[in-house]
Parts: sequence; structure tokens; C-alpha cells
Amino acid sequence: MADNNLLIALGADHAGRDFKRLFKEHLTAKGFETIDFGVEDHVEKADYPVIAGRVAQAIQEGRCQLGVLICGTGAGMAMAASRYPGIRAANCQSEYVAGLVRAHNNANILTIGQRAVGPGLALAILDTFVSTKFEGGRHQDRIDLMR
Ligand code: RB5
Repeated sequence: MADNNLLIALGADHAGRDFKRLFKEHLTAKGFETIDFGVEDHVEKADYPVIAGRVAQAIQEGRCQLGVLICGTGAGMAMAASRYPGIRAANCQSEYVAGLVRAHNNANILTIGQRAVGPGLALAILDTFVSTKFEGGRHQDRIDLMR
């Protein structure tokens, strides 16, 4: 069941654009609203820090609550996005980790590698990420220690 108050920011470089399209269709079909922060279809190559910055800033400013960033490995996007204060971006290759980065780390951006995981697993990771709630409590105390 989609959380209708959740606006999800999507971004990808050239190595992640197929997943971005797939994720957008999938999330829309599930009732989520998304905003596409590029890379635009007509652009051949994109630098992942630029796209990560667009999505990170949308979350910092409260325009979106969660983000999904896709590149070849998911690693560059996680590194770039997490440089923005308040952004906790986690690169996930399993549903297990996708659930725990929401429940324990309150990750607000999922990063994923289009060259690292297949589309079926990627959609399962995405579903877990957007449907898992932060548990708060002792986990919030630990997040506060990162400031
Ligand atoms: C682009 O070729 C690739 O380096 C990029 O998508 C990403 O994997 C970086 O982390």
C-alpha cells in the first residue's frame, strides 16, 4: 500500500537510466508520486555527483521525502549524496539491507547499481526501501552521534 504523502525523488546517470525508467513506472503503478531529476533522455552522459546533488537538495529542502539514485554500481551516488548535511544515502544490493537501512539508519536515499543487480532484485529492494518505516528510539540516538 503506497504512502500517498510520500514524494520520491528519482535520479540516474547514463549507467542507470534504464532502472530510473523502470522504477518510475513501478512506483507510479503502486500509487507513489515521483519527481524525475534526470539525467534527461536526450543527454548522452551525465556526471553522477551532479544528479546526486539535485536529489539530495530536493530532500534537504523538503520537496521530497525519499530519493532513489542509480548509477553503474550505486557507490558513486551514495558517496556524493551523503556529503550533503542531513542526507543518509545507502547503497543496497539486498532486500535485507534495504529494510535495515530504513528501520535502523533512517536512510533517506536508496542508491542502487544497474550494473550490479538484476531488475527483479532491484524492484524488490526498491519496494522494501519505500515501505519500511524508521524505528526511532536507540537508532535515533545513534544517528544523532553522526552529526
Ligand atoms: C559510469 O560509467 C560509472 O562510473 C558510474 O555510473 C558509477 O558506477 C559511479 O559510481
